[in-house]
Amino acid sequence: MHDDAAGYVHPEKVDVAACVGATWIGGGVVGTIDILARALRPGGMLLVGEPYWRREPPDQETVAACHATARDDFDDLPGLIRRVQAHGWDVVEMVLADQDSWDRYAAAHWLTLRRWLDAQPDDDLAEGFRQELTEDPVRHVRYRREYLGWGVFALLRR
Ligand SMILES: C[S@@+](CC[C@H](N)C(=O)[O-])C[C@H]1O[C@@H](n2cnc3c(N)ncnc32)[C@H](O)[C@@H]1O
Repeated sequence: MHDDAAGYVHPEKVDVAACVGATWIGGGVVGTIDILARALRPGGMLLVGEPYWRREPPDQETVAACHATARDDFDDLPGLIRRVQAHGWDVVEMVLADQDSWDRYAAAHWLTLRRWLDAQPDDDLAEGFRQELTEDPVRHVRYRREYLGWGVFALLRR
């Protein structure tokens, strides 16, 4: 099924429902939990990938470079876990990105951009992708690598 997950309800209840890196579809982590929970059988598990502030962002420039519009778009890690618990879910497992794995994720984009540019140097999109390949590594090391954490959290309903 390839569709907008925000409006999709799976016809059968499932054991595991996951959203790994798109919680904006539900307006944040809590709304996305509610979307996923519609398809969950009693006792089933949710997997939710969510960013959090690894360090407190010092200014709006940092906030914007980390895919947020406002500082309060994301919690810090204790705040995120408390938010999920307050919504009625236990956090029973988590896998957090560290800075090295964050680098692997970001750098895969850079190599993909470079390979694409090598293959299609005269494409209409080439100028924009060239700019992205120049700017994104700087943005990553200056902002996201330092300030933005990310993890997948396994949840069971309380
Ligand atoms: C940040 S990526 C994460 C992808 C992958 N899980 C990862 O960790 O690399 C977000 C993914 O969510 C998908 N997505 C965005 N909005 C969506 C929506 N409304 N419904 C379903 N998928 C959506 C995008 O196509 C993209 O593949």
